Amino acid sequence: MVGVAVLGYGTVGSGVVEVIEQNNDVVSARAGEKLYVKHILDLREFPGDPYENKVVHDFNIILEDEDVQIICETMGGVKPAYDFTKAALLKGKSVCTSNKELVANHGPELLAIAKEKNCNYMFEASVGGGIPIIRTINNALTAEKIEGITGILNGTTNYILTKMDKEGADFAEVLAKAQELGYAERNPEADVEGYDACRKIAILSSLMTGKNVKYENIYTEGITKITADDFVYAKAAGMAVKIFGMSKNTENGTLAMVAPFMISADYPLYMVNDVFNGVFVRSNMLGDSMYYGRGAGKLPTASAVVGDVVECARNLGNNVPVFWDAEEAKLADISEVSRSYFVRAKAEAKADVLAAFPGGEEVVIEGRNDFGYFTLEMKEKDFAEKYAALGDKVFMRIRVEK
Ligand code: HSE
Repeated sequence: MVGVAVLGYGTVGSGVVEVIEQNNDVVSARAGEKLYVKHILDLREFPGDPYENKVVHDFNIILEDEDVQIICETMGGVKPAYDFTKAALLKGKSVCTSNKELVANHGPELLAIAKEKNCNYMFEASVGGGIPIIRTINNALTAEKIEGITGILNGTTNYILTKMDKEGADFAEVLAKAQELGYAERNPEADVEGYDACRKIAILSSLMTGKNVKYENIYTEGITKITADDFVYAKAAGMAVKIFGMSKNTENGTLAMVAPFMISADYPLYMVNDVFNGVFVRSNMLGDSMYYGRGAGKLPTASAVVGDVVECARNLGNNVPVFWDAEEAKLADISEVSRSYFVRAKAEAKADVLAAFPGGEEVVIEGRNDFGYFTLEMKEKDFAEKYAALGDKVFMRIRVEK
């Protein structure tokens, strides 16, 4: 028998209890031992809940209980999750988490403690929700040198962009609808400004390089400035707008960024729509591979946490190595990267835009007072300088990814 404790009885935490109970036959069989939920930590009471008698309010009850060998941290946020996780690992209890904030901030330190104490810190649910991308990188692609990872890593923004594309609606309108439906948080900043995707690509980049990629150093741009007008041109050009978390190994270091990109229909992530996530991995022996599924939501995320619980139960007293050291990875300067850009400008500024970016391709739609333009490939710093000089003649620019 392996006792499991759940920290935080919110959406994901209650999902974890549900998955362990409802799928107990297969979960226990695959773990090789009977798994059961012993305690649930939460500040609140849950009268009438089938597991109300498991709810405790003092973390020390869990910490001191020798039956509890695995803890699921589904609280979110750094405090007090960090203190609880550290204390648990120092006691030799394995911790499985969905908390990308904590993993991105303290991953190497917590992994080092787990190694020292012969237990495990697992975080499959922190990136891509239910998609097994962490396990794929850690266990399945271990023969590979990973050259790049590009992901649609945030369900909320992918939903918003998909709706803008399909319905021709503006950002604010779709965001309000998404909030009404409960897809977007009341405070959607972390999603729409790209901060959530930034934590996630920091984690994937660290696993790709084996070094620590600090999320604070990753260039991050959200989707709030994209308008229905930009989609009119994207559609006319047969393209989609997606926000990517991207990380590539280059000669000058790891090129990591979060930003909206325009992609054509043959790009592998083109068909990843609505709240779905997709992660495209390029590695040196396998080549290209792609992982797709539900990146958020109660049961998909809880399933990933419980998958980690099973892995921890199979490895009690044994640390499974994770390729992620505390040494900081060198990041490449994004301003040196060459690519093409989509520019939307005032119709009367056409001559200026063509002079600034000669040789590109126009997208003209009759009867509009703006026009679209794809530049030739150029370095980001050169583009930025010329774009800034156009002042209010231009409305928007979106990077093109091929
Ligand atoms: N807010 C996140 C999303 C939840 O929309 O993808 C999952 O991390």
